[in-house]
Amino acid sequence: ELSPIDKAKFVAAKRAAQFVEDGMRVGLGTGSTAAWLVRCLGEMVRDEGLRIKGVPTSTRTAQLAREVGIEVISLDEAKWLDLTIDGADEFDGELNLIKGGGGALLQEKIVATASDQMVVIADIGKEVETLGAFPLPIEVIPFGWQTTQALVEETLISMDVLGRTSTLRMNGEVPFITDEGNYIMDLHLNRIGNPRQLSLVINQMPGVVENGLFIDICDAVIIGFGDGRFEVRDINE
Ligand code: A5P
Repeated sequence: ELSPIDKAKFVAAKRAAQFVEDGMRVGLGTGSTAAWLVRCLGEMVRDEGLRIKGVPTSTRTAQLAREVGIEVISLDEAKWLDLTIDGADEFDGELNLIKGGGGALLQEKIVATASDQMVVIADIGKEVETLGAFPLPIEVIPFGWQTTQALVEETLISMDVLGRTSTLRMNGEVPFITDEGNYIMDLHLNRIGNPRQLSLVINQMPGVVENGLFIDICDAVIIGFGDGRFEVRDINE
């Protein structure tokens, strides 16, 4: 028996899996919700003979995809994807997102951007009026990371968006290292009034590789509820 939160993630994933058609090249997201999706697709491959090629957004997802029998290819082999399905840490009314709680934001953004469609799967707890309660992850180059951190903090304080200071994401005693060999800094913002502007400003800074704001990338969100219901939120609504 699934807990309400897992049930919510599962129903959203199950619904999203129905968007996947035979022959598609599919971007596979990262995180606990996306893991449900990968398992659903694995079942469809095994039981229904679905033929897809999957492009994983992390080594974790690549491993799971192979375990459940999905053919895994690289993004460069795929060149372009029909659909990406991924989780999110927050989504707002315009379907803008914060991602990267799992540390895979860079690959996730590259893959989602290379896709005709991006569908997000999320439990209702991820919906927010204004983005920013969830700490915004940014991926930074290890070289001079403290200098980068100081620059980011100074800039965001001058823009009046930084609540508390930022923190380097840790993995026990050592910095968390992304699949691309970089660090993650979590920015504790209060509310992000202008996510588009903030994203541009952050990505301008030397040392920053990418940030977890996904603006105008997501086409639909499938929201799961603890009682097994789901709701589809479309960009055109
Ligand atoms: C991974 O880097 C994130 O962008 C995930 O998509 C996000 O953290 C959602 O994870 P859960 O589905 O586990 O909440």
